[in-house]
Amino acid sequence: MNNYKQALSNNIFKVISLASEELQLESYVIGGFVRDYILDRGEHKDIDIVAVGSGIELAKKVSELLPHKPKVQIFKNYGTAMLRAYDMEVEFVGARKESYSEESRNPEVESGTLEDDQNRRDFTINALALSLNEKNYGELIDPFNGLEDLKEKIIRTPLDPDITYSDDPLRMLRAIRFASQLHFKIERESLEAISSNKQRIKIISRERIVEELNKILLSERPSEGFSLLHNTGLLKIILPELTALEGIDEIEGQRHKDNFWHTLEVVDNISENTDDLWLRWAALLHDIGKAPTKRFDEKLGWTFHGHEFVGSKMVYKLFKRLRLPLNEKMKFVQKMVLMSSRPIVLAQEVTDSAVRRLIFDAGDNIEDLMTLCEADITTKNPRRFRKYHNNFKLVRQKIKEVEERDHVRNFQPPVSGEEIMETFGLKPSREIGIIKDAIKEAILEGEIPNEYEAAKNFMLKKGKQIGLSPK
Ligand code: CTP
Repeated sequence: MNNYKQALSNNIFKVISLASEELQLESYVIGGFVRDYILDRGEHKDIDIVAVGSGIELAKKVSELLPHKPKVQIFKNYGTAMLRAYDMEVEFVGARKESYSEESRNPEVESGTLEDDQNRRDFTINALALSLNEKNYGELIDPFNGLEDLKEKIIRTPLDPDITYSDDPLRMLRAIRFASQLHFKIERESLEAISSNKQRIKIISRERIVEELNKILLSERPSEGFSLLHNTGLLKIILPELTALEGIDEIEGQRHKDNFWHTLEVVDNISENTDDLWLRWAALLHDIGKAPTKRFDEKLGWTFHGHEFVGSKMVYKLFKRLRLPLNEKMKFVQKMVLMSSRPIVLAQEVTDSAVRRLIFDAGDNIEDLMTLCEADITTKNPRRFRKYHNNFKLVRQKIKEVEERDHVRNFQPPVSGEEIMETFGLKPSREIGIIKDAIKEAILEGEIPNEYEAAKNFMLKKGKQIGLSPK
């Protein structure tokens, strides 16, 4: 018999056990906490408790028995309750025999046994339960061989997958997310059921879809999840901009690379160097402008002119559609997409002025931009691979040197607009902008250093040129 008493060392479990006894009902820990304990993934801070009886009553009793009497949050519609204790968030639910309505995910609740409840869960690895009852405290209740599936790294549904996924289509994304996070395989029938139920993803709110997409993006090798999304047909529904990049065209013997699979490689590459969700989104979307801008030119072959600009506009539409934040995070992704080819051009010829312009335009995002561009190197030719990486090393070195010397990263004009007005006795006017711009250009071009005296002299010269004289 499998006993996992040692998983229940947190005081909260003893208290729940006691409360259950007082109410004379059975209770179990179920789901992610048990799964992650067995997988040794570190402590899972959310605890799900199933009560064979009222989850809400159990939560209230637990709160009563706890020294700090935590507040119990009750979600009446769902028959669930939540409280915080000992650094854990504990959710209580009564065991259910659930039937879902066709149109939404909101279940009509009917109480049931532990086994009924386990039946209605998403995956066998999430249906593992540990008893909190005195008679068999710590015993693993595993009616579907979830333990075996954990060991074999398999995602399988307790019921016929068609029922499980059609009951709650979010589970299709959860299956893929777990596969990607845990490096598990989705069992064949399950995968087929996802493909045939894919259209039902449309009833799921975009916020929930994004939550899963983000988790896939944050997994070690996001391509594991995105390949599954692609192969099941879900990606085409959720992110058609990406699947539009798939395929290789050939005209007059000239081919371009498959930008979809290239993109997934870029995302995997960047994930080795950053855990920043938004930089990973930027990698995922950096080429989306290539589908609408693709042309074949007799002389040049395949071109994607302006794809960075078009792509950055698409980022806005995509973020809006998926209800991703339309704030500085989106602006960051847009900026990365817009600038994604800039350092590549530089890698061919590194001049000081081009580097200054790059630093000026990228500002504080220069490091992230370089990380993206390095991840973009997916050539299978080892000689070229080395060459490109070496070139980027040079660019990075040059960025450091130029920045140390010229400080253009967060460029502040060395001569202010006020000083220009004061010097030439001007009211706010177009001329001030012209002079300020000319100073900035002169600094970026390296005509003058980024210093006050030089900029002031330049201002006087430029003023004269456009017919102004000092007061
Ligand atoms: N569950 C389910 N179907 C869903 C969501 C959840 O059957 N669509 C069940 C699973 O048994 C799951 C438990 O509810 O283990 C808790 O769900 P949740 O907290 O969302 O996920 P965890 O499994 O705890 O994992 P993670 O925290 O990584 O999301």
